Amino acid sequence: MARPVKKAVFPVAGLGTRSLPATKSIPKEMLTVVDKPVIQYAVEEAREAGIEEFIFVTSRGKTAMEDHFDQHPELYATLERRGKEKELAASKGAELAVSQLTTVRQPEPLGLGHAVWCARHIVGDEPFAVLLPDEVFKAEPSLLAQMVQAYGKVGGNLIAVREVEPALTARYGILDVDSDDGTLASVKGLVEKPKPEVAPSNLSIVGRYILQPEVFAILDRKETGAGDEIQLTDAMAKLIGRQPFHGMRFSGDRYDCGDKAGFVAANVAFALDRDDLAGKVREALSGLI
Ligand code: UTP
Repeated sequence: MARPVKKAVFPVAGLGTRSLPATKSIPKEMLTVVDKPVIQYAVEEAREAGIEEFIFVTSRGKTAMEDHFDQHPELYATLERRGKEKELAASKGAELAVSQLTTVRQPEPLGLGHAVWCARHIVGDEPFAVLLPDEVFKAEPSLLAQMVQAYGKVGGNLIAVREVEPALTARYGILDVDSDDGTLASVKGLVEKPKPEVAPSNLSIVGRYILQPEVFAILDRKETGAGDEIQLTDAMAKLIGRQPFHGMRFSGDRYDCGDKAGFVAANVAFALDRDDLAGKVREALSGLI
């Protein structure tokens, strides 16, 4: 039986250059989709999947994230005094217990693989999830919960995938597939950003992974790949053949909040889903479009 996944790594040490100037002093992960920072969506997704330990790989200027998940006694007391129960519940809903949140620093943004490697001592010798918080998913059950369920059947390494326009493969990590039942694809290779002529498929990796701890020994070698960065995709590719490795299609929508258009789209989509906002937002948008 597959060992359960109880720890999740959230790499949040990137510079967020595509979101400047907003990210000059605000971490990209603290930008809000409607009224919650994007990192909170990822934490809630992980919690729904049964994650008990949340590991943030952070860098300079990112302490706002730790503050966000901490208690805020002065704020709570004021909201209580003013009878603002809904606001109080929303603020407390964003808490993580002291024992649940660990932060570790990535001193330099040397790549996603390096960010994950920085969490190796906290993860230890057990399977773990990785969530890239700037990808926000609208899915029920949550995307990681769907993955944990599939992982219970296939074990090994499991990454979320989606089909992309064949002409756009050069933007993504792409799967080379062995067999495919329409939901789960057994993977025989991973190719970082292939040109359409040489792409082995149009199944692209999205920012959710369940990995076995053996990946750390590969990341230890600090080999650089595309963009001279230590790439998680390259390290994962080396696990193929040694351990089961699957890609999982999922039901739900993906919003790339690290991209300005994706971020705006996420705000509209999540607002239209809210009973308290949908009518007003629809009205405001109909005047614009
Ligand atoms: P991105 O490339 O999307 O993030 O990395 P970025 O570098 O912050 O953004 P841009 O391209 O400059 O706008 C995907 C995820 O990996 C993390 C990022 O924080 C993001 O969540 N990351 C990336 C790290 O934590 N460390 C790194 O060295 C690189």
